[in-house]
Amino acid sequence: MSAQKTSASSSASLAILGGGNLGQALARGLVRSGTLPPDQIHVTSLHPPSLDALAEEGFPVGRDNSAALQGASTVLLAVQPQQIVALVDEIRGDIDPARHKVISVVSSVTVAQLREMIPAPTQVVRAMPNTAVSIGESMTCLAADPDSADALDEAEALFKGVGLTIRIEDEMMVGATALCACGIAFFLRSVRAASQGGIEIGFHPEDALLLAAQTARGAASLVLRDDHHPESEIDRVTTPRGCTIAGLNEMEHQGFSSAMIKGFVLSAQKAALLFDDGDVA
Ligand SMILES: NC(=O)c1ccc[n+]([C@@H]2O[C@H](COP(=O)([O-])OP(=O)(O)OC[C@H]3O[C@@H](n4cnc5c(N)ncnc54)[C@H](OP(=O)(O)O)[C@@H]3O)[C@@H](O)[C@H]2O)c1
Repeated sequence: MSAQKTSASSSASLAILGGGNLGQALARGLVRSGTLPPDQIHVTSLHPPSLDALAEEGFPVGRDNSAALQGASTVLLAVQPQQIVALVDEIRGDIDPARHKVISVVSSVTVAQLREMIPAPTQVVRAMPNTAVSIGESMTCLAADPDSADALDEAEALFKGVGLTIRIEDEMMVGATALCACGIAFFLRSVRAASQGGIEIGFHPEDALLLAAQTARGAASLVLRDDHHPESEIDRVTTPRGCTIAGLNEMEHQGFSSAMIKGFVLSAQKAALLFDDGDVA
């Protein structure tokens, strides 16, 4: 089935403009969590055939952003930073401040810049989720100015369906991009590294990956579910002269914590520069 054919007239309450990696993951996550049915989420892309699978799953999809806005009350911008000016230029005339609330997940674009681009008095929220929205395990940071209190409540309700949420100051969104959005890749790389260690020790690759991933989940759950500090949990497994402290100290000698910290700091520096501020008219 061609995705373009399904876009006709939609009464979707959420329009996701930019159905790429994150937009598609969010659409599926919202359905999987029961937050919205697929026919209530209209997803657009510059190249609609990339949305064919979503169309098969019952989502209205297509290229027409104006059509997506027609039935929507919430408009979620999920394009690349260098694409947002063109997107907003395209939809500006279709935005009804009385009906639409706009949420942007676009990295590096501040609440103030969104306000400059989007016609007043439309309420706008900046959100920073990660791709674990698809399985209801995102960590989503939210920021808005005081005039967008209702939209912030709505955005929070939406993203609570796909994971945890926290409200932060807009100036901390760059850090949130590194810690939460880029962080998915960093923690996945650490799981892969652990599984590679497991293979060298003698496990079959698929077993090594399962053991590494479930152990990572257990470690994260000790922090999240039991509210324990990582170091107190580490103390429980590091017997004097034991094997854990030997391995841990060897990793630290090789720069483990330092490498992680430097990676997050560099990602945050880059995340601040993804959008060229001069593009805002
Ligand atoms: N991926 C993540 O983990 C993550 C996490 C947090 C925040 N973010 C932010 O979320 C945004 C999207 O990220 P992504 O990884 O999903 O990027 P992506 O895969 O490149 O998706 C962007 C999508 O927007 C579409 N698009 C561009 N201009 C459009 C327009 N005018 N109308 C309709 N669709 C349009 C693109 O279509 P084409 O492919 O046809 O060009 C593409 O499908 C970025 O700003 C990113 O920084 C991403």
